[in-house]
Amino acid sequence: MDKFNNKPTGHSSKEDLACWREYIDKRPDLMATSLTELRDGMKLVAVLRQKRNSSSSFTKLSEKYINHIMAYLVEDGISLLSMEEIIFLYDYAKKCNGIIVEIGTCRAGSTAILGLSKLKNSDRVYSVDIVQAPRAKALLKQFGLFCNLIKSNSHTLGQSWDKGDIDMVFIDGNHMMAYVLADMQIWERHIIENGYMLMHDCLTKKKMRRYRNKKRIDENGMIKSKTTSVNVHNAVKLFLKDHENFIDIGQQGSLKVLQKVG
Ligand SMILES: C[S@@+](CC[C@H](N)C(=O)[O-])C[C@H]1O[C@@H](n2cnc3c(N)ncnc32)[C@H](O)[C@@H]1O
Repeated sequence: MDKFNNKPTGHSSKEDLACWREYIDKRPDLMATSLTELRDGMKLVAVLRQKRNSSSSFTKLSEKYINHIMAYLVEDGISLLSMEEIIFLYDYAKKCNGIIVEIGTCRAGSTAILGLSKLKNSDRVYSVDIVQAPRAKALLKQFGLFCNLIKSNSHTLGQSWDKGDIDMVFIDGNHMMAYVLADMQIWERHIIENGYMLMHDCLTKKKMRRYRNKKRIDENGMIKSKTTSVNVHNAVKLFLKDHENFIDIGQQGSLKVLQKVG
């Protein structure tokens, strides 16, 4: 184990297993339960890294390696979410049987997680971005996923949305307050009753300070600006003022969840 970063080094040892456990502590369902499983998961990640630029697919991808895939997406900076946020996102996506919409595909790291939560029904995931990273499609293909990537402005798409009611919207696009608020207002009308709206980078100033001190931001060198997270937090506050049919049901890291209750 790399003691400095407290991350698995890629060699399967008891120490590494302990390290994975630390990552996903209270989630035995997502955890390698033996060294053999740990080794297999690590081999899979090694192949994924090696074949990063190819589009050979792993259609028989098993759910038991989901923790390794999550760690791969986080450690290689393919997703901008932290490990705890990715697990949280995965859990909410798993609760949904219908359509999931993501705003902000980027390199499709979080799109892959949404797709993996549905495996055979990954075509129910739609992800929109104003630009389409060249490797986003290839990544999804590697995992054998059929998520729909849409190149559009999230506001334009939301206004003309015709793919049906939505179980969950994950907002991680333009982080300016007015943009986030407009995303919430435009997309909320498509969400079913009891459906979810998740926002990334949502922190109060105070939490931002604490989060920055101890979380992945330092490890990965991807420091989010204070203002960005506070913007999202302020947009959520304004949205909740005007939408009594939405309630705040929780947060993990900077990932906030609202539920539509009426
Ligand atoms: C923070 S990144 C998304 C990260 C991704 N969700 C992940 O975890 O891997 C934000 C993305 O939002 C996209 N974006 C910004 N404004 C947008 C808009 N108005 N409509 C759609 N996408 C937008 C950017 O191009 C960028 O790729």
